[in-house]
Amino acid sequence: MQPLLIEKGIRPGVALLRLNRPESLNALNRALVAELTETLLQLEKDDEVKAIVITGNERAFAAGADIKEMANDSAIDMLLLDQFQRWDQIKRLKKVLIAAVSGYALGGGCELAMLCDIIIASETAQFGQPEIKIGVIPGAGGTQRLVRAIGKSRAMEYILTGRFFSAQQAAAWGLVSRVVPVELYLEEALKLAEEIASMPPIAVQLAKQSVLKAYELSLEEGLHFERRNFYLLFATEDQKEGMRAFMEKRTPQWKGR
Ligand code: HXC
Repeated sequence: MQPLLIEKGIRPGVALLRLNRPESLNALNRALVAELTETLLQLEKDDEVKAIVITGNERAFAAGADIKEMANDSAIDMLLLDQFQRWDQIKRLKKVLIAAVSGYALGGGCELAMLCDIIIASETAQFGQPEIKIGVIPGAGGTQRLVRAIGKSRAMEYILTGRFFSAQQAAAWGLVSRVVPVELYLEEALKLAEEIASMPPIAVQLAKQSVLKAYELSLEEGLHFERRNFYLLFATEDQKEGMRAFMEKRTPQWKGR
């Protein structure tokens, strides 16, 4: 069975990636992470794709790294494999990633969702970083991104106990942008992706990069980064087209230039 299913053009400008190891609740083994990363890097170069939705199935987005695969690894195996450089490649993607999460998003699954730009959750989604229960800690960003998403005290509580939290809690705390009925979570994510894909691509890219800088920079540096990008957009044909179309009361035609 293919560990990753790829549907391009499911909506205009949108690609859908489905994690597909249902027998292990989409546990992220090395082959799946490799294929996911390679596919994302290819889609990054594909002009027809503007936004990417990553999903699993109703029961699981992903229940974490594949415990059976890594159980007997040594520290040196881990170091030499250096799996997490793949996660850095995903972090550097310019295109928009939306996670459509239903069921379990645990450990590496929660970290993958947090690596995406937006999370849409089904009402059945359950999030957690249960690594502590198997003798480790989150390794693909969980201790950093969960703190930024839900605050230090809650992140501590959930990382130190390994307990899960619900979609409704995730929404109340700001980890996910929306909770929708289970039959709609993928549809809503695809609709959102299509809407973003219809926006001027360079502005989308620079907006994404600017928002992500809020994680990394001081306010002063972040404002500087934003301002440079704002000025830079006045060099695009799409800025001229967008403002002209507004004044002429018509729909803009984007060129992505
Ligand atoms: C390997 C997994 C798995 C995992 C589930 N399975 N999670 N296999 N790695 N992370 C397998 C089970 O072994 C089982 O297969 C099948 O999927 C169904 O799971 P069950 O446990 O029978 O289902 P259920 O009783 O409903 O419990 C669901 C669950 C539980 C609560 C999600 O499976 C669970 O606790 N999974 C582990 C969650 C976890 O600890 N994740 C963090 C991993 S560490 P078999 O064939 O055995 O019946 C991590 C580090 C991140 O992610 C590093 C960055 C990548």
